[in-house]
Amino acid sequence: MGETIRFLLDGQVQEVRDVDPTRTVLQHLRGDLRRTGTKEGCAEGDCGSCTVLVGEPEGQGVAWRAVNSCIQFLPMLHGKALMTVESLAREDALHPVQQAMVDKHGSQCGFCTPGIVMSLYAKAVAAKGTDAPPAEVLAGNLCRCTGYGPILEVARAVQAEAAPDLAADLAGLGDGAMLDLTYDDPVCGVTRRWLAPRSLDQLAQAVQAHPDATIVAGATDVGLWVTKLRKPLKALIDIGQIAELKRIETLDGAVRIGAGVRYVDAMETLSGLYPELGAMMRRLGSTQVRNSGTIGGNIANGSPIGDMPPALIAAGATLVLNRGGARRQLPLEAFFVEYGQQDRRPGELVEAVIVPTPQAGLIFKVFKLSKRFDQDISAVCAAFALTLEDGVVASARIAFGGMAGTPKRATACETALVGQAWTDATVEAAMAALDTDFTPLSDMRASAAYRSLAARNMLRKAFIETTQPGVDARVEPESAHG
Ligand SMILES: Cc1cc2nc3c(=O)[nH]c(=O)nc-3n(C[C@H](O)[C@H](O)[C@H](O)COP(=O)(O)OP(=O)(O)OC[C@H]3O[C@@H](n4cnc5c(N)ncnc54)[C@H](O)[C@@H]3O)c2cc1C
Ligand code: FES
Ligand code: FES
Repeated sequence: MGETIRFLLDGQVQEVRDVDPTRTVLQHLRGDLRRTGTKEGCAEGDCGSCTVLVGEPEGQGVAWRAVNSCIQFLPMLHGKALMTVESLAREDALHPVQQAMVDKHGSQCGFCTPGIVMSLYAKAVAAKGTDAPPAEVLAGNLCRCTGYGPILEVARAVQAEAAPDLAADLAGLGDGAMLDLTYDDPVCGVTRRWLAPRSLDQLAQAVQAHPDATIVAGATDVGLWVTKLRKPLKALIDIGQIAELKRIETLDGAVRIGAGVRYVDAMETLSGLYPELGAMMRRLGSTQVRNSGTIGGNIANGSPIGDMPPALIAAGATLVLNRGGARRQLPLEAFFVEYGQQDRRPGELVEAVIVPTPQAGLIFKVFKLSKRFDQDISAVCAAFALTLEDGVVASARIAFGGMAGTPKRATACETALVGQAWTDATVEAAMAALDTDFTPLSDMRASAAYRSLAARNMLRKAFIETTQPGVDARVEPESAHG
């Protein structure tokens, strides 16, 4: 790759040439720049020891977000700004976040500490998610020695300080200077391994011309193919520079979410429409994962345990695909053909997902079952969209993840409900119908029997929550709230 990747590091323009495009930001920091404060723990986005802040132009300023540098490819930094733990201390004075870690004994071996400091600092400067409780801010940071008590104490202490004071001298790094980056420069020409189209038209052409290339959105899946599977990726097409794909548009009776919209940018809209979907997204990955990962990537990867598809299918979402500019739409559930196979033709890309606004009175329930509350892939995920008329189920759209080779509608269960009184007996019958819909597998996350039982009980919980609002049918850790 001959073209120049240009980004700001501590306000100074960095230029990188002739680099393997799958070199990660972490490898560049540690191996090339010798900024070794940022650590590698897992190299798969789980532990947070590699957390850095990436800044992007937003409005008049720069929005800084914590991301896992171990699964970000270096060309994804083009036109952006970067801050690492080395950016924080001033001469001999630690930054207040660092000092609080010392004062409150939040560090022992210290391996996780730079990542924790960066997550807490990100919270201090973040444009979004500022009211997130400490456990949510730190859900993507693991510590093996200290225990979380002192670290959460640091988080609370830092939260109590005025965020602008904590951030004042650093957050502006990049404002102004970022405008000097020649943002229009293509990072790579179309004959190279990393293609970075700047418009949807260019992207559609590039994907059609290179049907075997790997499309990269947030790289929270693709990054692991490189760091864990050592998969040689011949060509990559980056969709991160395309403004059209980052838009959320309000349509008549629906919202259209571009395939490049990250979780962090979609949460407010989706939570507003479907509060339980928003609550589930809060448990999807970690802050770092949600700051990079896209909804389009979660759909396009076709995973049977992706968390967004069940809820979006239940909501009645439609997928927009684009092949060389020619668009087609299909119900989201129809995209998932079988395990590992989606209805995406060669040279086609996912452009957007259209999510209907809920009709008045819609009951919309989402359940995510995983071994840990935070930062864990689901064993089973379910979504129920029901309407009732005079106590009778008028419509039902129900979808599950983790129960088959794809995210899938529970049509036998839906049939058992529609036209029946919303009663215990009906729900019992519909729970039994789930055995017709699904023959789940056993794997490291759950046995087939456990999955079947859990799926049934999710329907029961939905029933309890709608008929006995005082009963708490979910178990949530106290830390999720503060
Ligand atoms: C630590 C960690 C925790 C995670 N936790 C969860 C979790 O709780 N729940 C969950 O569901 N997922 C989880 N994930 C998986 C991942 O974050 C999501 O699937 C994410 O939505 C992927 O989006 P991305 O933008 O990063 O996709 P990428 O990694 O960039 O791409 C994913 C796939 O989609 C393809 N693709 C991307 N965009 C398009 C497009 N527009 N058109 C066609 N193809 C496209 C890529 O080629 C690739 O095959 C986790 C990942 C990590 C690393
Ligand atoms: S090294 Fe563990 S998240 Fe990056
Ligand atoms: S202090 Fe050792 S891993 Fe956290």
